[in-house]
Amino acid sequence: MQVLVIGSGGREHAICHSLAKSSKVDKLYCLPGNAGIAEIAECVSIGVMEADKIVDFLNNHKDINMTVVAPDDPLAMGLVDILESHGHRAFGPSKAASLIEASKAYSKSLMQKYNIPTAYYREFSDIDLACEYVKSAEYPLVIKADGLALGKGVIICETATEAKIALHDMMVAGKFSDAGSKVIVEEFLHGREVSILCFVDGKTIVPMVSSQDHKRAFDNDEGLNTGGMGTFSPSKIYTDDMAEQVYTEIIVPTMHALNSEDRKFKGVLYFGLMLTDKGIKVLEYNARFGDPETQVVLPRLITDLYDVFDAVIDERLDEINFEWSDNATVCVVLASGGYPENYEKGVPITIGDVDDDIIIYHAGTARVGGQLVTNGGRVIGVTGIGADIDQAREKAYKAVQNVKFAKAHYRKDIGIKL
Ligand code: AMP
Ligand code: GLY
Repeated sequence: MQVLVIGSGGREHAICHSLAKSSKVDKLYCLPGNAGIAEIAECVSIGVMEADKIVDFLNNHKDINMTVVAPDDPLAMGLVDILESHGHRAFGPSKAASLIEASKAYSKSLMQKYNIPTAYYREFSDIDLACEYVKSAEYPLVIKADGLALGKGVIICETATEAKIALHDMMVAGKFSDAGSKVIVEEFLHGREVSILCFVDGKTIVPMVSSQDHKRAFDNDEGLNTGGMGTFSPSKIYTDDMAEQVYTEIIVPTMHALNSEDRKFKGVLYFGLMLTDKGIKVLEYNARFGDPETQVVLPRLITDLYDVFDAVIDERLDEINFEWSDNATVCVVLASGGYPENYEKGVPITIGDVDDDIIIYHAGTARVGGQLVTNGGRVIGVTGIGADIDQAREKAYKAVQNVKFAKAHYRKDIGIKL
């Protein structure tokens, strides 16, 4: 089988890495890919939003049996629908189903309608009404851009003044362009976060092993929200009882809710959960594998990933017997200096020898004239595999010392918190 993966980050490297292990996959393509992916897949320099060129490419490569659409933007654009309309098999949700991530206003209204537990919220498209509301709201308060904003469209405000600035930035100054013209103003939830990614084919939904992300840029959860600075799996706080409760009260109801709304979801559905003292609530949905959650979850999957994707497309996920390793994994992200705000690209990277039980996932990297250089905010994710989180963490941080580029920054506390 030949498979095309769409995307260029650490998540796509992890997907390619797992597909490369499949006995079914003879050849991998990745579009556009990165320097690490290029070691295991043929990279194609077409952008993820260039639907016409992607269709042309597939029409000219009839041996490709499956296209995996991994990032949010092409999913929200409807790339899966476009590929299917041209007769190509694609893994990922339709445009209609992807709305669960592409619009936070939509996902909040869905949860409200189907009684799926989530934070109390109000939706605003009018800055004056939003400013009036935040005057008398309780703090901290969370303000979220409705649309896709690379994980950065969430601002936690401590005072009404901060809230007004955030509203102005999103709704007037266009900080997240159209994504911020509508906002969600949400109750702040106290608790611990857990990420549960699920394979779903519209009939069956199968949770993967749990993981926890570290979204803030700096140690002790300080600094701005990022796309994710590191992860570990399994979660240290998500018990089997919680998993059972979440499955019946959140996961299955969400699949049914989408079916009832004529938005049948096929692909990976990500549940960002907050464990609060008033119960477990949904913080967000993503219509895709998380990044960097994928870099700790997929290394633990023993089942052939190609078979899983194939079963999802054909709606026979109930036939797959899932096997996961008992190992623990920790992924430390090395980011460019300045990320998640402005940063330089093109900074030379060196990677020394790495031990077994380490996987170096490239995120924002490129090769220029043979030299490996930075090409994004999150540059490399180093995943350590061990018998438990402490061992995996120790291995990951040891390997991080062998990855060097100027102004690199990474959190030193990945996997320490509960
Ligand atoms: P989201 O993109 O909605 O998951 O938000 C990104 C991050 O912001 C989450 O992973 C949380 O760390 C934080 N966050 C979002 N919503 C809330 C909330 N209602 N209460 C507390 N933290 C939140
Ligand atoms: N790590 C969070 C996300 O992928 O959105």
